[in-house]
Amino acid sequence: MKRLYIFDTTLRDGEQSLGITLNLKEKLEIAHQLVRLGVDVIELGFPASSPGDFESVQTIARELKGVTVCGLSRCVAKDIDRCAEALKDAESPRIHTGIAVSALHMEKKLQMRPDQVIEAAAAAVRHAKSYISDVEFFAEDAFRSDHDFLVQVLTRVIEAGATVVNVPDTVGYATPWEYGELIAYVKNNVPNIDRARLSIHCHNDLGMATANSLAGIKAGADQVEGTINGIGERAGNTSLEEVIMAIYTQKQRYDVQHRINTREIAPTSRLVSMITGVPVPAHKAIVGANAYMHASGIHQDGVLKEKQTYEIIDPEIIGVPRNRIVLSARSGRHALKHRLEELGYSSQTVDMEQVYQAFLRLADQKQEVYDEDLHMLMGAGGPEASR
Ligand code: KIV
Ligand code: ZN
Repeated sequence: MKRLYIFDTTLRDGEQSLGITLNLKEKLEIAHQLVRLGVDVIELGFPASSPGDFESVQTIARELKGVTVCGLSRCVAKDIDRCAEALKDAESPRIHTGIAVSALHMEKKLQMRPDQVIEAAAAAVRHAKSYISDVEFFAEDAFRSDHDFLVQVLTRVIEAGATVVNVPDTVGYATPWEYGELIAYVKNNVPNIDRARLSIHCHNDLGMATANSLAGIKAGADQVEGTINGIGERAGNTSLEEVIMAIYTQKQRYDVQHRINTREIAPTSRLVSMITGVPVPAHKAIVGANAYMHASGIHQDGVLKEKQTYEIIDPEIIGVPRNRIVLSARSGRHALKHRLEELGYSSQTVDMEQVYQAFLRLADQKQEVYDEDLHMLMGAGGPEASR
């Protein structure tokens, strides 16, 4: 089975988007949880961007063991110097340097010719290598670039010593089949690609970051980049938990292995949400509050008979103790009887039809019927007493 490396950028691309800056203590807490989760690489920040970012990258890089720690830098010598300085005491450091490669970015943003971009990219990788052996190169806006030019850039940076090459869909413009084709194109056309790991990095502007990442993995990527809860610029980055659980539920499709401890997914999601202050939408895949809740009578009946009828993931696998059957006016007799029995009531000793009708009258008045309501319903005098 092929090894898939998991690169977390919650503290860099994720934090960049928040409009708030996490302090060192908060970043450290998230970083330690990411180690427990089992990611391979943690991108800690952009050391040249501010003294605060430098300090947090340096402190966390010193402290973390058993994981590669990474700092971002532009293809600018002084950025790379700061990045190398911040990472110098790390057990396993990586510099992540890069430059934009689409015509739009080169012309309008960088105001550089393509040949100048190639030279700057190769020079930056050589400069980073003079400090640290593990150097990842990102080709910003790769998806919208001329793919033959992209191939030239990647060939040159691998020659210069890049150990990982990252092909981002910076603006989330790709569809899964197109992104998969691009990754296959890079694999088939960059002559020295076997000397580097191929990384994918997707944004979610069209809601396809997870799908695009999975297409990239199918096409042979070695490393996937993303964030916890999908936080990131604009509509966010690839949600790592979604990619991991898509692979988990469909192992036969991907044939890859990684080091993630899936039981740490829910605790990591909660911690990131709590510290960043960015709530996880209730309907969010994998980690949303409703992801393992069953609300309609037909679904509740199915799940009570056989979980897999409406549950593709056992919530325990991601660290959520159990699923939840929400009792409401949409619930059926089966769900009600099941919950009453869990609460210690015997369905043999009451008229269940009468209890169910009393339950429905109550449920019509409120969103959810809680255990206290059921106790009241079953209290002195039986269901009639609760009318
Ligand atoms: O989206 C992007 O292109 C990036 C790079 C800096 C890796 O975040
Ligand atoms: Zn990004």
